[in-house]
Amino acid sequence: MSAPTSAPVTTADVATEHRQRLFIPGPTDVASVVLAAQCAPMIGHRSDEFEAMFAKCEAQLRTLFYTTARVYIVAASGTGLQEAAIRNLVGGRVVCFVNGAFSQRWHDVATGCDKQVVRVDIPWNTAVKPAQVEAALIAALAEGPVDAITVVHNETSTGVMSPIQEIAAVVRRLSPETLVLVDAVSSFGGVRIDTDAWGLDVVLTSSQKALALPPGLAFAAVSDRALAKATTVKGRGWYFDFVKLEKSLLKNTTPATPAISLMRSLSVQLDRIFAEGLEARFARHARLAARTQQWAVVNGFELMAEPGYASPTVTTITNTRGISVKQLNAYLSRHDMEISNGYGDYKDKAFRIAHMGEVQDGDLDRLFAAMEAFLAQ
Ligand SMILES: Cc1ncc(COP(=O)(O)O)c(C=O)c1O
Repeated sequence: MSAPTSAPVTTADVATEHRQRLFIPGPTDVASVVLAAQCAPMIGHRSDEFEAMFAKCEAQLRTLFYTTARVYIVAASGTGLQEAAIRNLVGGRVVCFVNGAFSQRWHDVATGCDKQVVRVDIPWNTAVKPAQVEAALIAALAEGPVDAITVVHNETSTGVMSPIQEIAAVVRRLSPETLVLVDAVSSFGGVRIDTDAWGLDVVLTSSQKALALPPGLAFAAVSDRALAKATTVKGRGWYFDFVKLEKSLLKNTTPATPAISLMRSLSVQLDRIFAEGLEARFARHARLAARTQQWAVVNGFELMAEPGYASPTVTTITNTRGISVKQLNAYLSRHDMEISNGYGDYKDKAFRIAHMGEVQDGDLDRLFAAMEAFLAQ
């Protein structure tokens, strides 16, 4: 698929002079040309200029989501779209698979929206497997229809990626009317997600992760059947109502005032992403992940993710050497770099290295050299 571009961005621009500081799983560093795009003067959001920019970005996002349906662009973070998916698409029951902190959040959002929620716990550090989805869905369907399932593609808290293509195939086979809702907040833009071909009904993401944009925008690919379902669900609210968003999208705008400056940065960054090339971008993320996993093992640590399901965007490393993650980060900060501690209960028991967005091989070279110097102390 090809996508329209407007700015004359070249591959040379993509890798220019960027020096990564943040190896945390969001927000990630933003290229200076993308940051600078936010400083352009304000324009009216009902102007031809804004609508042209909106149309261009939405078309590019459809290409990036591998969908021909639609992509809603909202001024929010990813959690807003977790809530939108629940409020628009769940009238009755939803099955939430929980294998980490962010899938747990989606479950909490669903209960917070007062839906009938079936929670399925999967051990953290492991992926949601098709067989587990099959068993849970058969059990849930025995009690009545299921409107949707929620699953997080890439659990940022543990560095585990779940096989959403296979999961969606199971759902389609067992219950064709059940929608497949996918949080791809920390994977989208770093790994290929074939929304249409895999039969995903919602794929949502935030701007501040592998897309390497400032926080504040969120994007959701929404299938035709999901939109049709939304028209039947009561209590969709207003701001995130898919039916309202669709009406505005057809006019290349949003129902409420959009984040114009962030849209400008989005427009520039999408051109940079297509200039790099999608396959090249995904290959870069896979290569950086493999290098990070190898570095961890060679340096006497273990990987937290179960084998075969390690994330291509963030690696969680079990702190088997018992180092002080705080001191490590203090050392790294003197070299203008930062990694992440383990999430929640994993604090100090693990640490996380994000290799997403703008990170290049040379950035990992610098990071690993500094970490090895710290370990040698
Ligand atoms: C997988 C995942 N889902 C959801 C969220 C929440 O996203 P946001 O902070 O953009 O609301 C995060 C944030 O880190 C995440 O990693």
